[in-house]
Amino acid sequence: MLQHVFLASLSFLLVCSYPYTMIVTYGKPSNYTGYNRVLNVLSWEKCVMHCYNLPFCLFAYSPSSTPLECYSFYAKHMLFEVEKTTSANNLLVAFKVVDDKGYCPVGDNAPTFGGAPNYGSVSLGKSNTSYVITPEPGPSWKIRYNATLACQYDWGMFTRPTTKWCIRVFGNAWSESYTQEAALAFCKTQNATLTGLDSIEERDFVAKVALIRITSYNRFAGFWVSGIRKPECYFDGWENIPYCTGANPQQFNHTDNYLTSYSGYTWDPSQPDRSGNCVQMWIRDPALNPDHDYPHGNSDDYDCSTLNRGFACGKLPELTFN
Ligand SMILES: *[C@@H]1O[C@H](CO)[C@@H](O)[C@H](O)[C@H]1NC(C)=O
Ligand SMILES: *[C@@H]1O[C@H](CO)[C@@H](O)[C@H](O)[C@H]1NC(C)=O
Ligand SMILES: *[C@@H]1O[C@H](CO)[C@@H](O)[C@H](O)[C@H]1NC(C)=O
Ligand SMILES: *[C@@H]1O[C@H](CO)[C@@H](O)[C@H](O)[C@H]1NC(C)=O
Ligand SMILES: *[C@@H]1O[C@H](CO)[C@@H](O)[C@H](O)[C@H]1NC(C)=O
Repeated sequence: MLQHVFLASLSFLLVCSYPYTMIVTYGKPSNYTGYNRVLNVLSWEKCVMHCYNLPFCLFAYSPSSTPLECYSFYAKHMLFEVEKTTSANNLLVAFKVVDDKGYCPVGDNAPTFGGAPNYGSVSLGKSNTSYVITPEPGPSWKIRYNATLACQYDWGMFTRPTTKWCIRVFGNAWSESYTQEAALAFCKTQNATLTGLDSIEERDFVAKVALIRITSYNRFAGFWVSGIRKPECYFDGWENIPYCTGANPQQFNHTDNYLTSYSGYTWDPSQPDRSGNCVQMWIRDPALNPDHDYPHGNSDDYDCSTLNRGFACGKLPELTFN
């Protein structure tokens, strides 16, 4: 009951102003490609306002009011479905919509949304996407966009737990051209970074495409991926830091900020062996190296200044308009 009053006053005080309204109610995001955790937000009110004030944010969520957690869903995260709940579940949601009706639906199951579809528009860099939230009799609200997330031509798309992710492999058979730093710089020209290997699926994609890129080179080659050993893990005294030892994945920093798991990093036997501080993937044609013991696509820590034949970049997908 208290929650009800709180929501009503919140709506009245803060978010019922042109051009946007936040429709505040109870629910739970149930289909989305990603989200952002907003740290140090101490009240649900501030969480809602955080989203309200960001041109690219369309939805705020907290799984409870105490302790509060604040999650923002941005246009690039494509939220598709929000399950309806009641105050008993204490799951708070706020939808940003264009306020052309002059009222603020609020409270339990508020988004009957006045019985009509509500529209929103959020910015994504140079473009905007519009979306529509329709009042549905079912257990959830659906959000439809005039845009979809897509990877550019030649980039593979992968589903990570918190986002979609695009990966492209660069390199060639003819020359050893790239230090780890040069590979990273090249990825930046693609608005990307060296990709991490979040899953076996991502590892296998990089391994397969890299093999095609070096077809006429009949030996094995290294391709850079995300991973550089943390300074404290090679400075004196590293042996005393538990995460710096053995094959502990925490010994590496990643430029791939969307990496959620290290399960695509399958190390060669006895690796990482500290023979270098950067991570590469071994590309070994199983047909050309039938006697080679180690699998194609395994990881190894290698000298960062080694000139490798290639690397794999990763980045978020982009909105493309329908
Ligand atoms: C999530 O929503 C998208 C877009 O409507 C749909 O294509 C996809 O099948 C949905 N996924 C699940 C698990 O319901
Ligand atoms: C995107 O929407 C904002 C707010 O409605 C508007 O000011 C801006 O001009 C729009 N940008 C584009 C590219 O349509
Ligand atoms: C998508 O919607 C936005 C916002 O209404 C609009 O600016 C944009 O032109 C639309 N794009 C297409 C391709 O319809
Ligand atoms: C990188 O982003 C910039 C700015 O948005 C854009 O102009 C450029 O075309 C992008 N480059 C690639 C390779 O996508
Ligand atoms: C790597 O991680 C350490 C903390 O473990 C941090 O101090 C350092 O700045 C990071 N380096 C890079 C290049 O991100």
